[in-house]
Amino acid sequence: MTSVKLHDTWTPSSWQRLLAGQQPNWTDPGDLERTLLALAAQPPLVFAGEARSLQQSLADVSRGEAFLLQGGDCAETFAGFSADAIRDKLKILLQMAVVLTYGAQLPVVKVGRIAGQFAKPRSSDVETRGDRKLPAYRGDAVNDLAFSEEAREPDPARLERVYHQSAATLNLLRAFTRGGFADLEKVHLWNQEFVRDSRQGQRYAAVADEITRALRFLRACGVDVANDPTFHTVELWTSHEALLLDYEEALTRRDSLTGDWYDCSAHMLWIGERTRDPDGAHVHFLSGVGNPIGVKLGPTATGDEVEALASRLNPTNEPGRLTLITRMGAQDAPERLPGLVRDVTQRGLAVVWSCDPMHGNTFVSETGYKTRRFTDVLDELRTFFGVHTQEGTTPGGVHIELTGEDVTECLGGAQEIIDAQLSHRYETACDPRLNNKQSLELAFLLAEMLRR
Ligand code: PEP
Ligand code: CO
Repeated sequence: MTSVKLHDTWTPSSWQRLLAGQQPNWTDPGDLERTLLALAAQPPLVFAGEARSLQQSLADVSRGEAFLLQGGDCAETFAGFSADAIRDKLKILLQMAVVLTYGAQLPVVKVGRIAGQFAKPRSSDVETRGDRKLPAYRGDAVNDLAFSEEAREPDPARLERVYHQSAATLNLLRAFTRGGFADLEKVHLWNQEFVRDSRQGQRYAAVADEITRALRFLRACGVDVANDPTFHTVELWTSHEALLLDYEEALTRRDSLTGDWYDCSAHMLWIGERTRDPDGAHVHFLSGVGNPIGVKLGPTATGDEVEALASRLNPTNEPGRLTLITRMGAQDAPERLPGLVRDVTQRGLAVVWSCDPMHGNTFVSETGYKTRRFTDVLDELRTFFGVHTQEGTTPGGVHIELTGEDVTECLGGAQEIIDAQLSHRYETACDPRLNNKQSLELAFLLAEMLRR
């Protein structure tokens, strides 16, 4: 069957006819079935119209008229769920966005890896510690991080917990972004106490002062700052890797306005490096929903593969529908990225180019922690901007694993975190994230790259 024919017969469950990698071995199919039925009866988390608005904003990004900032945890967890944690994740994204907007004088499209990022693809099905082998941790959506037989058993009831935690997270985010917290007049309050005295914190405070002065200036000129919502609310979109297709299917709904299908678990969904087979189930599933879609591209990605992906995911070549998230690693990017960008451009494919400088730069440190060097992250970003400038294409955005907390998971940055310090606050359930100060520092460096 050709993919076009398959697409003609697309339904939310037609992916089940294809090979789906990275799916859990649920022990009891009956349990899974009951959970999925319950989820299918729940209200959607987002609306189709919102996904369409995001796609419009991403079309702006593709033309170089806006910049995409996508970021958040590698994996959200049930244990890490609290109002404070959500607020702090929002704060750092807002701070970075302000630094970028102010520094690069471009609107920033803010997309969180949040309110649904609970499932992880794994390189190996098993984890070995000493002489014990257990099923790998696949994210809180599937099993538990603790290293025991019982914890690693996949449990479908977790999918319902994911839904409810995502709903509560999104509810708070909507309240924060609409209810005054994200007000530009509060720009100083997003600077966390433990950051204020650092160089990044002071630099941020200087930007915040400038913004406060600019707002006063506008008011003095007669602009009705108090009543213009532009100054008091922000749009924060949600995204996660669409990995567990049963879950995504259960939250897929037909839009009553257009009759089109949307995956209402998040505004934007992406396909990971391990599941981007153009003929696989993940690509097929997402080909049928109207949301904007991202695809991760590692160092082996080719123009032919991208064309095959685009022909399925974006056959009408709509700007903003498809975001290519390159994650080649600082070492491979200079060699791999220019050819790929040229090839995709020559094929006339409308895409947003984004850079994930995290997933190609992971290694295990001497003290045994999975980590990343801040300098490698920067190197890959510099290559990304350099290549797109050279090729005459648009470096549209970044995709970062970060947290609002003061963790010690990535090496370097202005705090110069060293290997021996990783153990102080290593809290991630999966990959190492930039901490608050490293993220802010990155935003300032990114703003410089964007200005150039
Ligand atoms: C991720 O984004 O957490 C991830 C697993 O990325 P990738 O698919 O690029 O490896
Ligand atoms: Co990750």
